[in-house]
Amino acid sequence: MLPADGDLSEPTIVVRSGRALSGEVVVPGAKNSVLKLMAATLLADGEHIITNVPSIVDVGIMSELLAAIGVTTTRIDGVDGIELRLVNRGAITPVAPYELVERIRASINVLGPLLGRFGHVRLSLPGGDDFGSRPIDMHLKGLSQMGATFEVQHGYVEGRIEHDRLHGADVTFEFPSVGATENILTAAVYAKGTTVIDNAAREPEIADLCTMLVSMGADIEGIGSATLVVHGVEPHSLRATTHRTIPDRIQAATYLAAVGVAGGEVMLRHARPDHMEMLLRRFGDMGLELTAQHDGLMVRAEGRLRAIDVATLPYPGIATDYKPLVVTMLSVADGVSIVTENLYPGRFRYVEELQRLGADIRTDGHHAVVRGRPVLSGAKVRAHDIRAGAALVVAGLAAEGDTIISGVHHIERGYDDLVGRLASLGASVERC
Ligand code: EPU
Repeated sequence: MLPADGDLSEPTIVVRSGRALSGEVVVPGAKNSVLKLMAATLLADGEHIITNVPSIVDVGIMSELLAAIGVTTTRIDGVDGIELRLVNRGAITPVAPYELVERIRASINVLGPLLGRFGHVRLSLPGGDDFGSRPIDMHLKGLSQMGATFEVQHGYVEGRIEHDRLHGADVTFEFPSVGATENILTAAVYAKGTTVIDNAAREPEIADLCTMLVSMGADIEGIGSATLVVHGVEPHSLRATTHRTIPDRIQAATYLAAVGVAGGEVMLRHARPDHMEMLLRRFGDMGLELTAQHDGLMVRAEGRLRAIDVATLPYPGIATDYKPLVVTMLSVADGVSIVTENLYPGRFRYVEELQRLGADIRTDGHHAVVRGRPVLSGAKVRAHDIRAGAALVVAGLAAEGDTIISGVHHIERGYDDLVGRLASLGASVERC
């Protein structure tokens, strides 16, 4: 059960400002990669091993969903972090029930593998998110082009294929959707013929999924580019594999933002600067000193950040998931900034929480004007989604007095021990 609003027994995170951060933090594996890698295990029987898995609630929910479908997951805690063993014995029930789909968006990633391999799927229609409606029309349109038919009934979308296999198609997205790219990709690996995905999303997590699919035996060209060419392989020919999840660029950015507002010098072990180039350039414009290192990234900040204008865009642009962190940093920067949201127009709800901390932010449609203040002032605030929650923790580092954050369960969906990691860098932060 999730805690209700105002529940006095609900856990909180308490943050106090005033300490520069120092030391080293290990960046965990990426949530938005690992959940898709887990779904891809539906494509081949046998024992799959995924390493560098973050300890987050969403991995547990994805395991529950896969268990309901027929893949069992065992978690092994080793010296090199968490490893998952996923066993697919081929006894599959291709149904993704409402109770699990409504808990994580990534559950829709079973659509492509189930349809592509078993020719049938029943998926509860995903609902909206706190930051707006999140349709799957592009997923369904692309799969229809490959020979699937869909019917929506009683809150479920039921997909079938006309012949024994999907067939290759030219799928051009009007917008480079992450989820739709992944579903077409995982459906296309077993399709008859070649599928060309144009205007594909280019996020590093998609390249990570492609790398795993190739190691399972899939034939994919153009990995990392906006045109993915998938040559379908023979049915049931993919094999189980072992794959290491890429590090989480959003969690890495969270520690950069923390150093940005608190000051100090921190080494982000395993961070991949090549996955965050645009963001690092803009963080440099704000005054962070960033140096790529062997197996990581060093960040140093001193004095007040500088205001910048910034707009969210699909990769390689500035990700919408970074935005709450960026707005938080700009709330204490020197000058006035304009932030434009191009992906989720409704993704400004956390602004009201930042305003409770004294931030001077005005929103108009998908723009926010942020007038930097030298310091924020601690208050009780609530996290409404994962990224907004992490941004409020960072804001607490820039606020005088205590910042008490509720809605901690959102943060724990996607952050692997944010509190412990920040505390190890010297921040005064605890989970109560
Ligand atoms: N869209 C459609 N129709 C579709 C698909 C998408 O209109 O069929 C729209 C969405 O409504 C949205 C935009 O396109 O406005 C972007 O959607 P996209 O499909 O690219 O995003 P997603 O796959 O649903 C993933 C991440 C999000 C991240 C976005 C954008 C996962 C599980 N989620 O979502 O991450 O914000 O890409 O980068 O990978 C998070 O981790 O907190 C999170 C929300």
